Amino acid sequence: MSLRLKPLHSLFVAEASGIDITRPLSDTEVRQINAAMNEYAVLVWRGQPLTGQQQIDFAKSFGPLDLGLKKVFKRKERLEDERLIDISNVDAEGNVARRDSPKNLSNFANQLWHSDSSFQDPRAAYSMLHALVLPSWGGNTEFADLRAAYDALPDRTKAEIEELRAEHYALHTRILLGDEAYTDEQKKTIPPAVWALVQTHPGSGRKLLFVGVHARQVIGWPTAESRMYLQDLLEHATQREFVYRHEWQVGDLVMWDNRSTLHRGRRYDIAERRELRRTTIENVPEARLMAA
Ligand code: OGA
Ligand code: MN
Repeated sequence: MSLRLKPLHSLFVAEASGIDITRPLSDTEVRQINAAMNEYAVLVWRGQPLTGQQQIDFAKSFGPLDLGLKKVFKRKERLEDERLIDISNVDAEGNVARRDSPKNLSNFANQLWHSDSSFQDPRAAYSMLHALVLPSWGGNTEFADLRAAYDALPDRTKAEIEELRAEHYALHTRILLGDEAYTDEQKKTIPPAVWALVQTHPGSGRKLLFVGVHARQVIGWPTAESRMYLQDLLEHATQREFVYRHEWQVGDLVMWDNRSTLHRGRRYDIAERRELRRTTIENVPEARLMAA
């Protein structure tokens, strides 16, 4: 069988089927999925009964796995394999996390528009999120197309940002959310990463506007001016017409390219369980990302 794609939005995102992602992928299948990711940037696989190990194996076909903020927090985790990121409001003991828990703080940070791990170098390439338990309302995940966002910029802005770079910092979103109790050691564990605002996506050759809430400073600009500018660009990039809203069903696996999209979770009742698991690929040269 080969990959089938059904577009879900006028600019990006397709529902993918025709490949069994619960079993080891052939080189041809990896190439087909990469080609689809280069074009659509977000792929939705419905009805996937993946175990944690199968999700890890699927992810590993595209490159080494990224642990993101686990390096800083070193918290007790519910899932045994550290390569599986527990995107849930469930604590290490298996209970719904307290309203003011660190777990929920991370979830609220995920409700700000971001690209996974853009605060570190290497940053993330693909992420894959698999839904296990869903709340009765809300909890959608939205995606924004940064290529379409770039294309729609006025020429004046395109020229202005051509050479600009922004600093992305891991704890910026936490601090925005009022959580500042980090030790100096934690603050130093992930030094800021610097990324050009305009990037060319290696798999598609398309230019894109690389912004997101981790970006806190335009290099060389005064702080207030640079924060307002980044805020403006982010607002541009996340206009409704560039956004796809994913309404989760149990068993969905959504994979996205963090180099060409932003995403954010949406509100739900945090007294209800919401459990998803994420795997993320590091954007390193040895990753198997480009289509042949
Ligand atoms: C993530 C993320 C948003 C959500 O898993 O990287 O940002 O809706 N998730 O849970
Ligand atoms: Mn995320």
